Amino acid sequence: MPHQFDFLVIGSGIAGLSYATKLAMHFENLERESNAPPVRIGVITKVQADETNTKYAQGGIAAVWSEADSFEKHIDDTMVAGDFLSDPHVVEIVIREAPNRIRELIDYGTRFDKEHGSDDYNLAKEGGHSDYRILHFKDITGAEIERALLEKAHSLKSIEIFTHYYAVELITRHQLGETVHRYDTDNKCFGAYVLNTQTGQVEQFLAKTTLLATGGIGNIYQNTTNPNIATGDGIAMAYRAKAVCKDMEFIQFHPTALYEPGKKPNFLISEAVRGFGGILRNKKGETFMENYDSRLSLAPRDIVARAIDSEMKKAGNPHVYLDVTHCDYEKFVEHFPTITAYCYDHLGLDLRKDFIPVVPAQHYLCGGIRVNEWGQTNIQFLYAVGECSCTGLHGANRLASNSLLEAVVFGHRAYQKTVELFDQAVIPENLPLWNDAGTTHPEELVLVTEMKKELESIMSNYVGIVRTNRRLKRAMDRLELIYLEHEELYRQSKVSAPICELRNMIEVAYLVIKMAMARRENRGLHFNLDNAKP
Ligand code: FAD
Ligand code: SIN
Repeated sequence: MPHQFDFLVIGSGIAGLSYATKLAMHFENLERESNAPPVRIGVITKVQADETNTKYAQGGIAAVWSEADSFEKHIDDTMVAGDFLSDPHVVEIVIREAPNRIRELIDYGTRFDKEHGSDDYNLAKEGGHSDYRILHFKDITGAEIERALLEKAHSLKSIEIFTHYYAVELITRHQLGETVHRYDTDNKCFGAYVLNTQTGQVEQFLAKTTLLATGGIGNIYQNTTNPNIATGDGIAMAYRAKAVCKDMEFIQFHPTALYEPGKKPNFLISEAVRGFGGILRNKKGETFMENYDSRLSLAPRDIVARAIDSEMKKAGNPHVYLDVTHCDYEKFVEHFPTITAYCYDHLGLDLRKDFIPVVPAQHYLCGGIRVNEWGQTNIQFLYAVGECSCTGLHGANRLASNSLLEAVVFGHRAYQKTVELFDQAVIPENLPLWNDAGTTHPEELVLVTEMKKELESIMSNYVGIVRTNRRLKRAMDRLELIYLEHEELYRQSKVSAPICELRNMIEVAYLVIKMAMARRENRGLHFNLDNAKP
């Protein structure tokens, strides 16, 4: 039996939950006030509901909050960090709507740290910000937001959360046997085919409106701060359904992941640590950022990550250091209890006297599924919000703590548009069930594991912080071999999460390489030694 929803939300991070809770509150109010019929909102998530990039966010969420700060300054900082490729209209929208959206998070029960003995929030600073404007809850802001949003979602009767449900493919006009091309605007989405990973059955989840909120792509790289769930599924599904993707070459490497060889994901040392006074040092213990940028350790991420990459190459060292030994230790521990404990428990570091070994690691995708200012893709009734989307906010490089912010602002805007268009959405009757006749369970999953390792190696070696034309071509050639091999396996196999994830990662890696090859200028996070200097 197909499941039938009014709204299907794929992803239970900040983007998916912000949207789902708004819809639920709106329609439950209508039900109470004017006897409107109840709606059904299905939220699916591939493992436990809180296993998301959101949960691991440390630094916080950016917004103009103090009298001394201004929207203009936050807008300028976002444009400068994005190397002026951000869409100024979208930047303006997000920055100006930020305080209202954050007040709503607070209303749902999210806690942010306050100044001692005061009701004012303690505002932190991060790279690229000209003022103190990061609201945070210690160094586990994401976990706190995720907790509050999940509690809110569980309290709303119209939301059903399906954990361990893996979306395999979107259902669009293609499934009706119709041909639709990319950039067409008359394609329509009617839900998704979803694998129940506990039974192995693919179920049809029909919906009048579908939201992709599937997060990032970190696992196409060897080193990433992203948890295992970040495999680019939503972007790959949307691309196969002929949605337009954009800016995929802009991969953000966080400058300071903890150096722990063989560990995946990499534990993050928040940028807020540099905002607190942490200083980068090379192998010899010397500062070096003065040779790269006047903003020193607090320059935007693309600049700091490239500087570290260059220092590591010069010294032949696999990491540099972050020094907090001069900071007020008590205050440091109060703000960064998780980081302090992790460094001690895992590496035996006493941050009063030891430097922290750090290395850049893939952290965030600035591009994704192209959406307009309401989160709409070019496929009707298909929205994308959060890290899987490309709104135009981040341009060539995201400003720290603007990601959680983008997700709440666009979650709200997508909700508004969904409500406006709700009456126009219709699910056709004759949509086919998933058909896997003739496929079998693959005998050797080791093929998938090995192909995944090859993919990570290609992306890390040839499509990293510093690129060249030759490296990109080699990456594309090697990727094609993996693609052909894996497609054959996919066609013969019953679907499983590992097989689908690898398929999606290959698709996403293809988009990254293709767009990196097409960009003939060095902008923000895209740096190719063969490109002429700007
Ligand atoms: P996620 O929170 O990643 O949620 C994705 C959801 O989609 C998950 O529920 C997952 O199960 C589901 N999903 C994916 N594929 C499928 C599928 N096929 N089927 C079913 N479900 C699926 N940003 C900031 O602004 N401030 C910070 O301080 C900050 N710190 C960070 C620290 C770390 C370590 C990391 C990794 C990121 C950080 N970021 C930060 C970035 C930010 O956390 C993310 O960009 C943001 O949380 C993404 O939210 P999202 O809702 O789009 O996706
Ligand atoms: C961090 O805490 O450094 C992460 C902030 C971000 O990714 O915006």
